[in-house]
Amino acid sequence: MDEILKVENVSFDYSDAQVLKNVSFTLHKGDFLGIIGANGAGKSTLIKLILKILPLDKGRITLFGTDIQKFRDNHKIGYVSQKASSFNSQFPATVSEVVMANLYSKRRYPFLGYTHSDYEKLERVLETVGMLEFKDKLIGNLSGGQQQRVFIARALISEPELLLMDEPTVGVDAMQYAQIMDIISKLNDEGMTIVMTNHDTPELIRVSSKLLIFCSHGNGEFLNRADLTVDEVNAIYAGKRGHHHA
Ligand SMILES: Nc1ncnc2c1ncn2[C@@H]1O[C@H](COP(=O)(O)OP(=O)(O)OP(=O)(O)O)[C@@H](O)[C@H]1O
Ligand SMILES: [Mg+2]
Repeated sequence: MDEILKVENVSFDYSDAQVLKNVSFTLHKGDFLGIIGANGAGKSTLIKLILKILPLDKGRITLFGTDIQKFRDNHKIGYVSQKASSFNSQFPATVSEVVMANLYSKRRYPFLGYTHSDYEKLERVLETVGMLEFKDKLIGNLSGGQQQRVFIARALISEPELLLMDEPTVGVDAMQYAQIMDIISKLNDEGMTIVMTNHDTPELIRVSSKLLIFCSHGNGEFLNRADLTVDEVNAIYAGKRGHHHA
């Protein structure tokens, strides 16, 4: 099986806080990793290290078999950040422009303009997140949950092989949430490798094939979803695993 992401003995400290300690796991094509942990456990920090938003100090991260220091195929990776949305109404871009802009990273000749197939993709991803009717609206005039849905569409339009989503559904209402989770599951069924955090542990366990559970020590417990017993699942639901012990 194709190896997509390998994290080996990664540790990370902020100047005033030790966060990750010897985190290791490997994902193959089609895996869906759910990252579970309390506020401050280091979930976002780990995702930012994978994306080189934060500098890796200790350990090693490999993407598609290439060390991240040498990795250049950024178009293979989609990212939805935690609180991606925070545009004010003055922000001068439409929903379509925000989503389409993410195609440039993949295009060989961006100056040629968008093709018919680009516009078809745009409609498809906006439809997917239920935002097609808003395509000509200014992003800054949308609600927080609507902006978040646009950011999911933006990540999807470049058809990434690895999709990293850090609480992508914050502020999204229940009906859209269920639809978006279904869509993400479907993309995963079709072979997209996914890393996702959210605070809906039961749902995350339901959709994931692998779990990374942060306990008090920051090293993360890497598990196969299929290996969990019902008792273990219940313990995770109840917060007896994967949460800081005060
Ligand atoms: N830029 C920073 N400088 C210093 N400390 C930071 C910084 N960013 C995060 N931290 C600290 O590192 C720890 C881990 O933060 P991180 O954002 O990775 O947690 P998280 O698991 O994503 O939490 P949440 O569930 O709230 O999103 C926290 O204690 C946080 O206060
Ligand atoms: Mg976070």
